Amino acid sequence: EQIEKGGYDHFMLKEIYEQPSVIKDTYRGRLNANKGIVQLAGVEDNIEKFLNANRILIVACGTSWHAGLVAEYIFEEFSRIPVEVEYASEFRYRNPIINKNDVVIAISQSGETADTMAAIKLAKENGAFVFGVCNVVGSSISRESHAGAYTHAGPEIGVASTKAFTTQITVLTMIALRLGKAKGTLSNTDFHTYLQELEVIPEKVAEALETNERAKEIAAAFKDAPNCLYLGRGYNFPVALEGALKLKEISYIHAEGYPAAEMKHGPIALIDEQMPVIVIAPKQGHYDKIVSNIQEIKSRSGKIIAVVTKGDTQVRELADYVIEIPETSDALSPLITTIPLQLLSYHIAVMRGCNVDQPRNLAKSVTVE
Ligand code: G6P
Repeated sequence: EQIEKGGYDHFMLKEIYEQPSVIKDTYRGRLNANKGIVQLAGVEDNIEKFLNANRILIVACGTSWHAGLVAEYIFEEFSRIPVEVEYASEFRYRNPIINKNDVVIAISQSGETADTMAAIKLAKENGAFVFGVCNVVGSSISRESHAGAYTHAGPEIGVASTKAFTTQITVLTMIALRLGKAKGTLSNTDFHTYLQELEVIPEKVAEALETNERAKEIAAAFKDAPNCLYLGRGYNFPVALEGALKLKEISYIHAEGYPAAEMKHGPIALIDEQMPVIVIAPKQGHYDKIVSNIQEIKSRSGKIIAVVTKGDTQVRELADYVIEIPETSDALSPLITTIPLQLLSYHIAVMRGCNVDQPRNLAKSVTVE
């Protein structure tokens, strides 16, 4: 097992560090920015289904559901196809409306999650086209789907999902770019800019991994906190949910993710000097809005840990701790902002003496209801 961990203390840390290379594996042979190509065989073979879709329904569980939420923002922005994201467990039991012009995308690392499997069976029975985004090759969901794209992240052993999440987002972003280009909803310039940016994402992820020492320092300061709040807006709202989930899963600290502006409809009541609030505040996106959210936290004495773009000065003045990440466009930022949050949860869990790779009560794949 030590050999399999490749010199890392835990599989989770190894998998966090693999992200620059597995994201490359995910787009290898599918993306060529110079030639302006983004192609996934499963999409190309069924391009009409995607282009004629009335809407895209995304079904998933856990971290994969968070990747689905990021995809909702990206698909609607790039391709203007309406998207709905559902927990597979809710979808399968609520008599949902499914039409033959719906494209259902099932996202699953393992490809074995029982609820996601049941959701796609239901979608197929109702005539929808089912596209699987799985990591495990030959898994049940990949076989049950009409078509699909693998994430090629390699085996993920740590129960808390890390590299599966970023590679799922990579695949879904490529699909959205392809559709945006075909539909003309994405300008040529934007299309090429995003392609180029996606190609250099692995380098930016590698740079974001350099926040490891900083994440460790922050972890030491907050490892005994009983609660934690994660806030983000737009593309980074799902990242806030995922950050909170990572912390809960492996450190057993109660954590909640919220869209930053919703804070005033509840969570703000929890903020006092004991409450660490992790705010995802990159320069792109709704920066001014998030700055005012940070001010609201500060005036209630919350402890602010902010993920900011390198060189940021405004948030730095307000926050107790900042973690700097490289600049990216708003739409691709989840691939970068996620990294320090993974590291933060990892170090907190290690410092609390938790079993990082096999947290209590959790399973890597949930094959029963
Ligand atoms: C379990 C795992 C999570 C995962 C979820 C969905 O809860 O612990 O890491 O996100 O199942 O799994 P899937 O394999 O369908 O992505």
